[in-house]
Amino acid sequence: MKLTIIHGQNHKGSSYNIGRLVANSLCNESDITEFFLPKDLNHFCLGCYKCVEDESSCPFYAEKLPLYNAIKNSELIIFTTPVYCMGASAPMKSFLDLSFTNWMTHKPKDYMFQKRVLIIATSAGSSGKNAIKDIKTSLSYWGISKIDSYTIAVQATGWNTIKKERMEKIQRDVNKIIVSQKKLVNTKAKVGLKTKIMFAIFSGMQKANWGASPTEKEYWNKKGWLGKARPWKSSK
Ligand SMILES: Cc1cc2nc3c(=O)[nH]c(=O)nc-3n(C[C@H](O)[C@H](O)[C@H](O)COP(=O)(O)O)c2cc1C
Repeated sequence: MKLTIIHGQNHKGSSYNIGRLVANSLCNESDITEFFLPKDLNHFCLGCYKCVEDESSCPFYAEKLPLYNAIKNSELIIFTTPVYCMGASAPMKSFLDLSFTNWMTHKPKDYMFQKRVLIIATSAGSSGKNAIKDIKTSLSYWGISKIDSYTIAVQATGWNTIKKERMEKIQRDVNKIIVSQKKLVNTKAKVGLKTKIMFAIFSGMQKANWGASPTEKEYWNKKGWLGKARPWKSSK
């Protein structure tokens, strides 16, 4: 199985290590592709809307492409982020902003619909719910239905300073995640009803010419999505 990890931080702290514990138990190192943000995508969206006409016109397309290619070639994508000011890290948010044309409201990618995702967010003490939500909202609109998540207050500022009892709890939790993820290896995610309904609504939106650009309707039309064709029926 191929797996991609996208870390919302450059450093190898708690979020990184929990992500790696899961990844290392699921596949060999050679099957893991790993990105660190901002190191591997050090940009913010400029709001130029060039991507709406053609995604390759984004000034940062060359840096984004390796991430999309890795996602395309992976069965499971793990996103890790520390909780910063109750939300996801800014570099992670920036990656999501730079990917907004993947939304079903614009030009969703065929291959997203049957991906599986695991989001991991660690905090010092507060809830990680908002950080998870920041990421999950975008991915749901990318068309991904199977999104699992794990958040934990590590009660520390780094992986090496986590107290013994807390580390034991993390290990127990991670073991449960590994067991459930192992059951899914070599399976494609089922496309959920909510995704199917949203897709139908956005197909109607494009038909009514409510897209952000005429190129969006062309894109949907070419794929046959304004009719009965659906990306989860064609994606490999
Ligand atoms: C800029 C910044 C903001 C933070 N905001 C929060 C927060 O809102 N709530 C919280 O519980 N911890 C917060 N923390 C602590 C980290 O979320 C926590 O230490 C986390 O486990 C770090 O993960 P890492 O080791 O992967 O970097 C913050 C830390 C930093 C550096």
